[in-house]
Amino acid sequence: GMAMKQAQLVVSPFSVLVGVAIAAGGGNKLPQALPWLVASSAWFALCLFQLFATASKVSEDAQVRAPDAQAERHGLEKYEHKVGGHTSPDGLDVCLLHHNQDEVLKRLQPQPYTLRELAFYGREMPEHQEGLLQPVMRYLPQFYGVHDIDSMSYLRLQNLMRQYSKPCILDVKVGRRCYEVSAPEDKKDRERQKYPYQETVGYRVAGLKVWDAERGAFFEEIRQGKNRTEADMLRGKDVETYLAGCSSTEQKLEVTRQLDEHLAKLEQFLAQQTYFEFCAVSLLFAYEGDPQVAPQHRVAPFVWLVDFAHTIAGCSAVDDNFLFGLRMFRTVMAGVRQRLEH
Ligand SMILES: Nc1ncnc2c1ncn2[C@@H]1O[C@H](COP(=O)(O)OP(=O)(O)O)[C@@H](O)[C@H]1O
Ligand SMILES: [Mg+2]
Repeated sequence: GMAMKQAQLVVSPFSVLVGVAIAAGGGNKLPQALPWLVASSAWFALCLFQLFATASKVSEDAQVRAPDAQAERHGLEKYEHKVGGHTSPDGLDVCLLHHNQDEVLKRLQPQPYTLRELAFYGREMPEHQEGLLQPVMRYLPQFYGVHDIDSMSYLRLQNLMRQYSKPCILDVKVGRRCYEVSAPEDKKDRERQKYPYQETVGYRVAGLKVWDAERGAFFEEIRQGKNRTEADMLRGKDVETYLAGCSSTEQKLEVTRQLDEHLAKLEQFLAQQTYFEFCAVSLLFAYEGDPQVAPQHRVAPFVWLVDFAHTIAGCSAVDDNFLFGLRMFRTVMAGVRQRLEH
């Protein structure tokens, strides 16, 4: 649209000038036509210059706005294994892959959540609580500090999917309530409307991604938790979908067995700790979906805790909210296993 108008502005005065030049040059009176020809050439040159100037300005603006271009300039790319979570209102990616592939950069959320997640990873907590997380350190991504890009801050976290060839990923948000007690009423209402079963079921799926070896592509569902019923959740429909990346029933049973072993350890930790409220924390599951990786070379299935923007410290009570959801999820997965065995 804008380029067309620009072009018309250039062409119409130019053709008038050329027209006059031709008319003047009519009866071989070249000297009379000469000034008009000079004027039209000058006008043409000026317009061309202006056109180039605006074109390069437009692409510069696009650069500023296009997140991918901005990330690329810093040797970063969009993280392809992000299954849940937000994109920010300005369209910038909230999860980027660092060029060394070993870390992802998670954009810090606006205040006050920024400081919460940073405080959690930075272990900024009273001295007597240090070492509290020791039993579950292997279930947390490693934290390498903060990285600033164009005045925006990112957490540098271990890329948890690094070892998998075709990672099958499931993000499960745990808790009967995944908003803070102090959240504004309208936010609470929105959450309850979107996930009416959360209170009774205690978990929801924020996203999943499964390698489909036959198609040679990932099958992905983002924020699918919205369209689920309580019965779907209790039956573990999403868990079944998640296991579709396995090439046999044996593999499904093995994957779920190993994952549940880790969940049992997490439950043990959660049942005795009274310092954190893990509000809106996710279990991030992964297993190898590439059938070309021989079983003896496959990286084992694993689960991590991620997303601590709403984790509150110093609670002096067992986190029943999270614990309820974790136990429910284990029960649901046990049900799926039972059906697989028959
Ligand atoms: N350390 C990590 N390694 C691999 N993937 C991650 C990591 N952290 C987050 N992700 C991916 O990004 C998604 C969103 O991350 P999360 O921390 O939950 O952000 P948000 O606060 O936007 O929900 C997760 O569902 C997961 O797929
Ligand atoms: Mg999340």
